[in-house]
Amino acid sequence: MTDCDCCITKAVFYIGLLFVLQCLIKFAYFINRNFVRKGHDVHERYGKDSWIAVTGATSGIGKELCLHAAKEKGLNVVIIGRNPEKLKATEAEVKKANPKIKTKTYRFDFNDSTSIDEYQKLSDDLKDLDISIFVNNAGLMPLHYWKDFPLEAIKEITETNIHGLSLLTKIFTERFYGRDKRSAIVNVASTAGYAPIPLNCHYGGSKAYVRSFTKAVGHEVSDKIDVLCFSPGYVDTALSRNAKGYNVASPEQCSHAIFRDLGYERETQPNIVQENETFSFAIMLFISEWMTMSVAGFLFKQDFVRFEKIDAEKKND
Ligand SMILES: NC(=O)c1ccc[n+]([C@@H]2O[C@H](COP(=O)([O-])OP(=O)(O)OC[C@H]3O[C@@H](n4cnc5c(N)ncnc54)[C@H](OP(=O)(O)O)[C@@H]3O)[C@@H](O)[C@H]2O)c1
Repeated sequence: MTDCDCCITKAVFYIGLLFVLQCLIKFAYFINRNFVRKGHDVHERYGKDSWIAVTGATSGIGKELCLHAAKEKGLNVVIIGRNPEKLKATEAEVKKANPKIKTKTYRFDFNDSTSIDEYQKLSDDLKDLDISIFVNNAGLMPLHYWKDFPLEAIKEITETNIHGLSLLTKIFTERFYGRDKRSAIVNVASTAGYAPIPLNCHYGGSKAYVRSFTKAVGHEVSDKIDVLCFSPGYVDTALSRNAKGYNVASPEQCSHAIFRDLGYERETQPNIVQENETFSFAIMLFISEWMTMSVAGFLFKQDFVRFEKIDAEKKND
């Protein structure tokens, strides 16, 4: 064996060793996160008797997060939504889940409230509450072929998923730097933000923005604020037209994962199945972006048909 052969053999051995070590560390980390580590005590970390405020809190993930925060964490809850009846009904459910906590509702429609002053007013109107966790959860996902995409839907996605989320993240960042304790911001993204998604171009693009933006902000403000990007795949809510299947998460799994990983992670997902799905997606993307888009486009075509059918049935009811 020449000196050169020997060097190559050694290099291959050490690269292999590094790979095995990395896999072992990742596996140990995975076990710890999913089965051993407990979520932070939110009162100790963010302030006793403080409040959580959730946008899009009248349905799906947001509503379940309010119920979980009240029942399991004993946090006071600000329920932010656009529909007065739904706000009242959600508040009643949250109060029932834990009669000891305080609640407040706040009406806010992202599609109407586009000026900076209106966002500042939202924070000012809630200035007497010691909000320590702010959750940008409101979002919408109309499915259309891009050539047929209604201009109004583009506006509403932009206002809600991007514009409103960014302004509220900024306003609450400033507010949280004024608190003595640490605080937290959770921004809800989606697996649709991992790759370009045909038939979901604008929504996917908006969630890619949320992922990039949230992780960068989290890095900057980590001295004072825990920033978490929550990126679920399909969840059984109105947005997915109550999708079902082994890979569909429940809103309860979402709340559990958020509180489990808040203060520890920069990004998380509802469960192991969806983490695995994202991993496969990343490998596919690495191999070929075209192939990934073709698969995603095919899947969303099926969803498009399912959405159209369900929406038509609802209209006829
Ligand atoms: N479900 C999924 O499969 C899935 C997957 C990945 C990511 N996500 C993300 O998870 C978040 C929550 O969605 P969800 O699944 O819980 O859906 P959902 O049940 O439809 O809830 C969406 C919430 O956002 C509110 N909202 C929508 N547009 C609004 C506007 N213009 N102004 C104010 N509020 C508005 C809705 O208010 P109303 O109650 O008045 O309609 C509702 O409370 C979204 O950001 C979504 O993109 C969901």
